[in-house]
Amino acid sequence: MQKALSPNTKFVWHCINFYLILILTGCAAGQLGKNNSGEFKNGMVVSANGIASKVGISILKKGGNAVDAAVAVQFALAVVYPNAGNIGGGGFMVYRAASGETNSLDFREKAPSAATRDMYLDSLGNPIVDKSLHGQIASGVPGSVAGMEAAHKKYGKLSWSALLQPAIDLAKNGFPITKRQASQLNANHPRFMHFNPDGTALIKLTGPWQENDLLVQTQLANTLTFIQQKGKSGFYEGAVADSIVAEMKAGNGIITHEDLKNYRAIWRKPVTGTFKGYDVITMPPPSSGGIALMQLLESVEPYPFKKWGHNADSTFQVMVEAERRAYADRATHLGDADFYNVPQTELLKPTYNKARMASFSFDSASTSASIKAGEIDIPEHLETTHFSIVDRAGNAVAITTTLNASFGSLIVVKGAGFLLNDEMDDFSVKAGAPNMFGLIGGKANEIAANKRMLSSMTPTILAKDGKLFMVVGTPGGSTIITSVFQTILNVIDFDMTMQQAVDAKRFHHQWLPDEVDVEKTALDSVKVKKLEEKGYKIIKSGNIGRVDAILRTPRGKYLGGADSRGDDKVAGY
Ligand code: DON
Repeated sequence: MQKALSPNTKFVWHCINFYLILILTGCAAGQLGKNNSGEFKNGMVVSANGIASKVGISILKKGGNAVDAAVAVQFALAVVYPNAGNIGGGGFMVYRAASGETNSLDFREKAPSAATRDMYLDSLGNPIVDKSLHGQIASGVPGSVAGMEAAHKKYGKLSWSALLQPAIDLAKNGFPITKRQASQLNANHPRFMHFNPDGTALIKLTGPWQENDLLVQTQLANTLTFIQQKGKSGFYEGAVADSIVAEMKAGNGIITHEDLKNYRAIWRKPVTGTFKGYDVITMPPPSSGGIALMQLLESVEPYPFKKWGHNADSTFQVMVEAERRAYADRATHLGDADFYNVPQTELLKPTYNKARMASFSFDSASTSASIKAGEIDIPEHLETTHFSIVDRAGNAVAITTTLNASFGSLIVVKGAGFLLNDEMDDFSVKAGAPNMFGLIGGKANEIAANKRMLSSMTPTILAKDGKLFMVVGTPGGSTIITSVFQTILNVIDFDMTMQQAVDAKRFHHQWLPDEVDVEKTALDSVKVKKLEEKGYKIIKSGNIGRVDAILRTPRGKYLGGADSRGDDKVAGY
């Protein structure tokens, strides 16, 4: 039998292992060092784009707090990351002040007032292919600008104008695009031409885009200047609103001046719970993310993951079975709680989630056909982006924001220079019909005028013993919830650093389809065979998620994790 190590020897071993892993993974992948630039004590921003991360740090250095930096980063991403950064989309913010105060802000898009339940179905009642995804009819009423104004009014310190200026400069003067962006813009060129025959800055007129080409967006700079001068009414009223409504009329869109004027961001009580002594603060409906994340954490809490190991077959089985059950609940019970009685208290009960796991056996996979949403008696009343920010005082912001698909509906508002979302596809356009992420839904998430479509976005903050512990989130549609779930487990159960936790290979299951998407190399062939023999259908998948996260060390320093699956960057000072 192996002799037990003394705590001191264990600590030294842990340090040696830690640095060995750092050196080995850094050398092998060449990635850890590239995206993660070490520990910082004054503040940190981790986002999908290095320029946007630096904008956030410049605001912190000027004396802004985490919310000021978040507002500036949101507008900067609308310029430098047009796939998902936006003013024509929406999102969610989870906030935790150093004092322990928590809050969450819903700036999700809304269905226009003329929206109807069957608006994407043909005369036979079947979904019309891509109607909820492309063109003017796919857009919900945007929420981002109202969200940023609400966040700034409540918590901001610096002037609104100062927070808009970096984005305006980047749009006016241009910024060098990355290699990945050049290839994405080139790949989308025919689609941009189709949906924007009059042109957009995203179409290059002479030859294909190349790395470091400047993307100049003059119309967007003007729109941002209106917002700088007039706040949200610079977007929801006046010239920009006129351009949005004209764009609707040019196609088959239904957003009206009234819809724009009536849009409000809403402060909501965050979903909170505990996992192994950590406080989890996350997003309530209209996101499914917070409830589903807490269901997953509660379902797996009793199992000894640390002993079994990361991506071990038992660990995998328990996580997949928890996911099967949580996503079955999502499909039936979750929707905009302002329109549908979401049984939030019941779904968040640890006893409920632990009981749901009782039907699972290690011998064989449950089938999704045999798992239904839990019966709850009395209902009570790809492309997205996430960024995480902390400031010197320890205030933390997690924002996930989206246009839905990459470049949203592909419609650039003529004259105003920004992309509109295709968020209407997140509704269940027909009961049981899968959306672009294969998610199905029913009554809870059917379309209704002015309703918010159900989301999976899961901006999340964790605290321990009254102190900030982690800020985390990701894009990835339905895989958002499971990616956040795995990142949290990677740190708490598997002792990874923030960067390791973000880079570790992921897998995803969502009840239907009854299969598990597994990133290449997440499981070796022996494990795959063993799991297949038990009935799991394993599908090799490309990248899952793009997590950007921050960990606060026990010494009060910030450690970043910027996902090496993208151009994501840590900036700190
Ligand atoms: O709100 C949602 O759940 C989706 N609209 C998110 C889309 C997304 O993450 C696409 N990115 N990869």
